[in-house]
Amino acid sequence: MRVAGNPTKQQLREECIVNDRWEAPLIKVQSLAYIVLQRPDVEQAARFFSDFGLLIDERTDSAVYLRGVSTAHQMMVIEKGAADIPRIGMLAEEADLETLAARFALPICQHSEALGGRYVRLEDPDGLVIEVCSGLKSLSPLPAQPPLPQWNGAGDNKVRVNQMARNPLRPAWVYKLGHTVRSVASMQASLNWYQQTLGMIVSDFQFLPGDPLPVVAFMRCDCGDKPVDHHTIAIGTAPLLGHMHSAFELDNLEELLIGNRWLADQGYSHSWGIGRHVQGSQIFDYWREPKGEVFEHYVDGDVFSAAEATGYHLFNSEAQHQWGPEITADVTGQNRPLQTLRSIARRLFTQDDITVGRLKRLLKAVNS
Ligand SMILES: [Fe+2]
Repeated sequence: MRVAGNPTKQQLREECIVNDRWEAPLIKVQSLAYIVLQRPDVEQAARFFSDFGLLIDERTDSAVYLRGVSTAHQMMVIEKGAADIPRIGMLAEEADLETLAARFALPICQHSEALGGRYVRLEDPDGLVIEVCSGLKSLSPLPAQPPLPQWNGAGDNKVRVNQMARNPLRPAWVYKLGHTVRSVASMQASLNWYQQTLGMIVSDFQFLPGDPLPVVAFMRCDCGDKPVDHHTIAIGTAPLLGHMHSAFELDNLEELLIGNRWLADQGYSHSWGIGRHVQGSQIFDYWREPKGEVFEHYVDGDVFSAAEATGYHLFNSEAQHQWGPEITADVTGQNRPLQTLRSIARRLFTQDDITVGRLKRLLKAVNS
């Protein structure tokens, strides 16, 4: 039901000052392929992600390459360096690499042997490097895993007969890198860039009341009729700029619960969950790795074709999840007041989206 004074979806759409898609983008990326982490202690990071469910596939002098159970391609590279997430890889057609190279006068580079294929190196408006890739190396199939016992339903819906449910604790089996979420300096600049350069479509916007500039945009790839994840890249306005979380897909709820117990038993820091999101519908579970970045296990996300229209919604605490624990101070940043205030103080003297008025509305919305 509409709360008195709150705008309708139609009003939010009419007042919105940014596009939800671009008619003729330069290229259309197909999916997120990998994320590159730089960490001072590569082995510590590799241990966390092994417990998170990724598998160490290759090691070189300069990097560790991790995969999931899929044979598609590597999904994470950990390099030695100051703690940072400087690059991501996205998949595109080989012809798209030629288009980008010609348009921006950039070279088409050869990837490391471990990743394989070729890429063009772009930078988004906030300086995140996006390696648009083609021909990433396929991986060898893993030894077959024993299937999880099926679930018996209620009443006569019993499919597991004379067989007990035994699922020993272990790291979850991860299938793919699904999405990454970042806080950006300018929603307008980022939306223009991701739509015009990479062909991304906004699945859902979220707005603060009375503000025509969205504070969150969930963007998916445009693969025409082929259904794709509700969001592959999401961007938002938040006090701290940069990486907010990246998410990996599991097959089912029991995997997520086993993964949760395993990570808790290893002593890692839980961030938020288990719950079900609203936009994208994923059942989610958020964890912090040792250097403080958040990574998510998720199952049962929505998939859309390019035909699905963009949704327009208000941003508030209820807009983030359908059920599960309330959003935590760890996610909102309210448990890191000094770091948050320092960032806000710096940004108030710039021309980016953080203003005193928007900050007040954000704080009110997140606690409403
Ligand atoms: Fe997520």
